Amino acid sequence: MTILLNNHGYDNESWRQEFCLQLPQFPVKVFGQQPIDPEEVVYAMVWNHPPGDLQRYPKLKAIFSLGAGAEHFVSDPTLPDVPVVLLADPAVARDMAAHVLYWVLTFHRRYGDYRAQQQGRVWHRKPIVPTDRFRAGVVGLGRIGTEVARRLAGFGYAVSGWDASDRELEGVECHSGLGALDGFLAQNDVIINALPLSEKTRHFLGAGVFVSMRSGSFFINISRGAVVHDEALLEALDNGHLAGAALDAFAEEPLPANHRYWSHPNVFVTPHMSGATFPSSAVAVISNNVRRFEKGLEVYPLFNREAGY
Ligand code: GLV
Repeated sequence: MTILLNNHGYDNESWRQEFCLQLPQFPVKVFGQQPIDPEEVVYAMVWNHPPGDLQRYPKLKAIFSLGAGAEHFVSDPTLPDVPVVLLADPAVARDMAAHVLYWVLTFHRRYGDYRAQQQGRVWHRKPIVPTDRFRAGVVGLGRIGTEVARRLAGFGYAVSGWDASDRELEGVECHSGLGALDGFLAQNDVIINALPLSEKTRHFLGAGVFVSMRSGSFFINISRGAVVHDEALLEALDNGHLAGAALDAFAEEPLPANHRYWSHPNVFVTPHMSGATFPSSAVAVISNNVRRFEKGLEVYPLFNREAGY
């Protein structure tokens, strides 16, 4: 009855300690650090596991992700036929919403301009629209997009959202379907991308989308770089149609040193830090799911193999 920690790219020790604390009934073994009898593994906690590894454990009952994304499952064609549970850590969604708020405030209230003015000791207040007239549009109303939309609305912004399917969110004007996309894009001062990456959404935000956005508007990406068509975004920034972009995720990470985003005057680059996953909160969420699973109760959110997220 062992938990396997198969976590590539994070500090395993803090995760191991947290699992030992929160699920003391299960010994925790770390992939690559100690001998593991494949027969003893019942739960696998994974992030970027080596494809193929998870089929080595005949008694595996469920797989749990240690991060929000699901690409590490999509890229493993040998994923065993057991429930795969993604991570919906409210602390991560909250932090991502805070990151978005930072950029919405920066764009709306011109904090970048004031920094530049300070260099020249210039005291000049820029005209801005009231908060409830600054329109923020969230593309993708999944768990993270919903939290972003709710929190921005809580600060008084005029928030709308778009999703492929119908959604309802208090205080947020919701639009759905491709037919409604252009109108939604055209009405916003800033568009925030919170779509998951799948074969359907790869390069979904391309030239057509950026052209439909309001002239002088801003773009924020907190999901995955490959949802954006980079050349189309650069074109919209170069020709001045878009006034700026704050990008936290890129098709290739780390962002290559020669990429144009680094030096573009209207692009803000952050190194995929908008929602770090901390073991202290994530393991509590995962452990709760493990306890529910043990009792035969529903676990959430399950990875949808067909949709890819
Ligand atoms: C990070 O991007 C994650 O998916 O957890």
